[in-house]
Amino acid sequence: MEENIENIRKTLKKYSQEHLLNGYEKLDEAKQKQLVEQIEGIDFELINSLYNNTKKEFEKTDSSITPIEYLDKEKLNGYYKEYQTVGEKAIRAGKLAAVTMAGGQGTRLGHKGPKGTFDIGLETHKSLFELLSDSLKEQGKKYGVTIPWFIMTSEENNDDTVEFFAKHRFFGYEKDKNIFFFKQGELPMVDTEGRILIGENGLIKEAADGHGGIYEALVKNGMTKKMRELGVEWIFIGGVDNCLVKMVDPILMGIAIEKNVTAAGKSVVKANPQEKVGVFCKKNGKPSVIEYTEIPKEMAEAKDERGELIYGESHILCNLFNIDAVERMGKKPLPYHSAFKKATYIDKDGNKVEPDGPNAYKFEAFLFDAFGELDDMAILRVKREEEFAPVKNAAGVDSPETARELYRKFYQL
Ligand code: UTP
Repeated sequence: MEENIENIRKTLKKYSQEHLLNGYEKLDEAKQKQLVEQIEGIDFELINSLYNNTKKEFEKTDSSITPIEYLDKEKLNGYYKEYQTVGEKAIRAGKLAAVTMAGGQGTRLGHKGPKGTFDIGLETHKSLFELLSDSLKEQGKKYGVTIPWFIMTSEENNDDTVEFFAKHRFFGYEKDKNIFFFKQGELPMVDTEGRILIGENGLIKEAADGHGGIYEALVKNGMTKKMRELGVEWIFIGGVDNCLVKMVDPILMGIAIEKNVTAAGKSVVKANPQEKVGVFCKKNGKPSVIEYTEIPKEMAEAKDERGELIYGESHILCNLFNIDAVERMGKKPLPYHSAFKKATYIDKDGNKVEPDGPNAYKFEAFLFDAFGELDDMAILRVKREEEFAPVKNAAGVDSPETARELYRKFYQL
């Protein structure tokens, strides 16, 4: 062990991260072991380069951005039935699995506990998890199958999430039979000097690696293997915070199958050119999403001959993938973006620091950064009021209040 610690000290010195062992002696044996394992798992070169990237000016590149084609669910005419028949057949045959990404921190909402446990204020007081499970079970029943449900958690919220489900008897699902939980990856947080933070528990302060971590997490945790055993060929991936998410959609399935594409994503019309949403597009000829922070004003405002925004198909985190594509994407590292966040930590002298504002970087991969790996992607425009009621902020836009309203309207409550 001593020899091991000496080696670790050398590595830490090389990367100016010696402070990570400052509190080592004070930890109990189990935590010492944990800390050592954490340090051994860190890719210091990666962390260095991620930190250096935070210093770089964001480069705006619009030259390779082009519009992407889409289908409007309202205007499929004769094809509607055709897609429906094909999609329903695949769903009845048990080829669909649903994945809910529930590893986020939900900082804007400020709810104590996993976001999925949040009660949006309906008369029933059902949590987001229960609302999602209601819809999944209802759809499954319609097609005579139980849609297997995979829930991605994070190190931070996994235990609370599983406990919550257990308390509610998994909403009728059976753990490890048709409902599965798996954890996403994590990356250490660093301060403005590039030093990795130590958290209040004396261990490295890590944060979930973004929703882009989904592909790697599905593969690494054996979830795609499990899906294959269950006969799954298509995976719907959605967020936990859209209480109208339609995880089972024969039209989306039918389009993906009929058009022979490896993925199909849903969009809603961007409310106005300034709306803070990412939109589907093509980057270097490949499917992609351009963030509202990246899109030049002229491009955001450009309209076609029918008066519609050319870049107006908002990405709503509702996408269907072929299992082969997920496995391929899960093996390819994604770029990380940095976010400046508020993080309590233990300084090099052992004192707890509780900052008033953001003080540290967290690194996240975005789900859509992997779309470039796809050969092609079909985009299906759906109605916002039928499929998109996100809970992001504590008040105002995309809040429990707006989501509740949309939910009630849709279900005519
Ligand atoms: P958001 O990007 O809205 O993040 O996640 P969030 O964590 O819910 O909220 P803020 O930004 O901290 O306020 C969109 C979806 O992606 C999931 C979230 O749980 C949500 O369903 N997500 C996000 C993860 O599963 N893991 C992550 O690391 C990030």
